[in-house]
Amino acid sequence: VQGLNYLAQNAGKLYFGTATDNSELNDTAYTSYMENNLHFGQITPENSMKWDATEPEPGTFTFTDGDVIADIAKNYGMYLRGHNLVWYEQLPDWVTANNYNATGLAAVVETHVTTEVAHYKGQVYAWDVINEPLNDNGTFREDVFYDTLGTDYITIALQAARAADPNAKLYINDYNIEYVGEKSTAMQNLVKQLQADNVPIDGIGMESHFIVGEVPTTLVENFQAFADLGIEFAITELDIRMELPETAANLDQQKTDFYTVVNACLQVSVCRGITVWDWTDKYSWVPSTFPGWGAATPFDDNLVEKPAFDGIVIAL
Ligand code: XIL
Repeated sequence: VQGLNYLAQNAGKLYFGTATDNSELNDTAYTSYMENNLHFGQITPENSMKWDATEPEPGTFTFTDGDVIADIAKNYGMYLRGHNLVWYEQLPDWVTANNYNATGLAAVVETHVTTEVAHYKGQVYAWDVINEPLNDNGTFREDVFYDTLGTDYITIALQAARAADPNAKLYINDYNIEYVGEKSTAMQNLVKQLQADNVPIDGIGMESHFIVGEVPTTLVENFQAFADLGIEFAITELDIRMELPETAANLDQQKTDFYTVVNACLQVSVCRGITVWDWTDKYSWVPSTFPGWGAATPFDDNLVEKPAFDGIVIAL
């Protein structure tokens, strides 16, 4: 079988990709497979470009770990997704300590975004500039940024990112916007508002952390609604978890489910690509985040292809 990235490109996508984390990179079986096969033409750092990793103290930037991932992308000709610039989680304490008034926090956001995007200028295909800004009911998440600046923080970050790397695609990334519903509608309304205000916005990231047997049935209809806004989108963090221990029936259902999601991306031309949130169960974030759940990726703990892998291949 041809590699997933090759198949995705043949199907008109830019890439099939994966997230990876620095702590996994001393596993040579893992890295050699990831780097030398044709499955992954895009890479996302799972943690090392987040705020706590990149600006642990005000104005003190460390890009060492992020650079390791960026170098993999460069050396193996992969697209690089910058993840992420402004998010309510994995923030250093100095940001969340409520020390800043609106003017101060605006400057903090602008400095963070400008410095990080400038550091990776020319290397990043797309930035998740804003991560998870919405609540599930479609209201804005009341984090330190929104509480202090309202939606201005979104404008400030997007404009700073555009200025620092005019060629990078600027995305807002979130979950539970993959299907028709009030959160998706709210995200579309946010895009329309940004467009009306001439704020740069190029794309929407559909995280797609799904559950076996419960993949939404309105993916294509919902994706088309975003496409109709004149923007692109991508499936940015795909995994499909099941209750442990895994069963043959669930692994078979997971094959169907991966097929469904990948096929939905293929149905809408401006779906640029699909990224799995790590490619092997060995390093998936799921078991530690959702106790009792796992087996969410297309490769098992031994880096062997699961039925889910075949589901992706069939779709592509
Ligand atoms: C997760 C990572 O996978 C974990 O290693 C980390 O401990 C927490 O963050 N949505 C996102 C990602 O946008 O950044 C999150 O990644 C998963 C949910």
